[in-house]
Amino acid sequence: MKVVNIGTGYVGLNTAAALAWIGHDVACVDIDESKINSLKNGVAPIREEGLDDLIKNTKIKFTTDLVEVINDAEVIFIAVGTPSLPNGHANLDYVHSAANSIGNLINPTHDVTIIVKSTVPIGVNSSIEDSIRNQVKLNNLNDSLLHFASNPEFLREGCALSDTLYPDRIVIGTNDNTAFEMMSKLYAPLVDQTFTIPDSVQPPKDRPKTYILHTNQTSAEMIKYSSNVFLALKISYINEISSLCDKLGANVDDVAKGMGLDHRIAPYFLNSGLGWGGSCFPKDTLALLQIAKDQQCDTPIIQAAWYVNEAQIDKVINKLKYEFYDLHGLNVTLFGLTFKPNTDDVRNSPAVALAKRLIELGVHVTFTDPVGLPNARKVYADEQFKFEDDPIKASLDSDCIILTTEWKQFKSLDYKAISNNMRHKFMIDARHYLNSEYINDVGIKYIKL
Ligand code: UGA
Repeated sequence: MKVVNIGTGYVGLNTAAALAWIGHDVACVDIDESKINSLKNGVAPIREEGLDDLIKNTKIKFTTDLVEVINDAEVIFIAVGTPSLPNGHANLDYVHSAANSIGNLINPTHDVTIIVKSTVPIGVNSSIEDSIRNQVKLNNLNDSLLHFASNPEFLREGCALSDTLYPDRIVIGTNDNTAFEMMSKLYAPLVDQTFTIPDSVQPPKDRPKTYILHTNQTSAEMIKYSSNVFLALKISYINEISSLCDKLGANVDDVAKGMGLDHRIAPYFLNSGLGWGGSCFPKDTLALLQIAKDQQCDTPIIQAAWYVNEAQIDKVINKLKYEFYDLHGLNVTLFGLTFKPNTDDVRNSPAVALAKRLIELGVHVTFTDPVGLPNARKVYADEQFKFEDDPIKASLDSDCIILTTEWKQFKSLDYKAISNNMRHKFMIDARHYLNSEYINDVGIKYIKL
């Protein structure tokens, strides 16, 4: 099918690459000329396992000019960002701007389904449909060949292509049968797994068959928010249990394991630590809180998930104060800056939130990270953080190392050399990730958050 995808962020680019790989004719549009130029040269502006490979081995057309491609399209995805506004609501400027461009430029001569993939608050799909239809009618064109659907994405950074090529479920929110049929045809190669498996993106073991769930638009919008916020609160729950385990002398990792062995609970998203960050959980939790507030609906559980997550940073500070009492003038090295491993995304990282608090308390902060530093040096150029590529050098004169992102590279470091470099030999594993015996053996006092 002929597909146009608007937006070349994580969602847009990975969706475009996956759809091109399974045999569709895909054009990718973005207003950012530098991104498009870089993509035309085969260089993805984000780091994602398999993405460069799929872009190189498919024929995606990259352009800044929607008009060039829009009228051939059978399917148009809106996959632009919806970042948080200061009041917690989602910023819909990019979504509206994409919808305006579609409304102004489209001249429907065949069935076209316009699909919102961006995460948007409840009701926005329907307002986008109204605004595009109105614009088309204002242009004296017929809107009867236009169809609309909400199709939320569930991809995770770091394994975005795997999540897209081998999804658990595809949610199609529409009351329009043509839209549903067109989308079923679009996704059939994923559901039936009829495409060639790319070497760079292998399927997960024991994956269930993809389930297509057909709902109305509002339910699809709600599924997206409820899923992300549920995962966030599952993490907050184990973090709250962790605080209690600390007081009672229980081991939260064993507790999580014991809970996760119950198939109704499942072991995922029960890793206790510094808390959740990234460009999705914080934004979507805030947005759902605002949506609920607008409906005058109490959501104490969601509020608590947010509150517990914020409190994880205080927990680290308290552990540091317990060890040092006065934090002023300490050298603290943070192992990990990205919001999770296997991504170069440094936005909304709990490690950065912790670093900012430490700076306020007069601590000197040095970051080391195997992948995130080039981005961080740009994004956090105005912060008082130091950046050091080599973890051994980063630990020179350090009073405390805090493991803030569970990169596998941190497992195999020469902790003897690190210990020799430290001024005070203390480590907080804020991701419950390292081998405590090994770290203790090299003379570093090791505790978990
Ligand atoms: C999340 C969802 O997992 C995806 O399903 C969703 O599509 C995506 O948001 C989105 O809305 O676009 P992502 O933000 O890439 O994906 O990252 P996750 O792997 O979910 O991790 C989020 C945060 O939770 C990270 O900071 C991670 O360190 C933290 N986390 C995760 C924990 O603290 N403990 C865990 O057990 C799992």
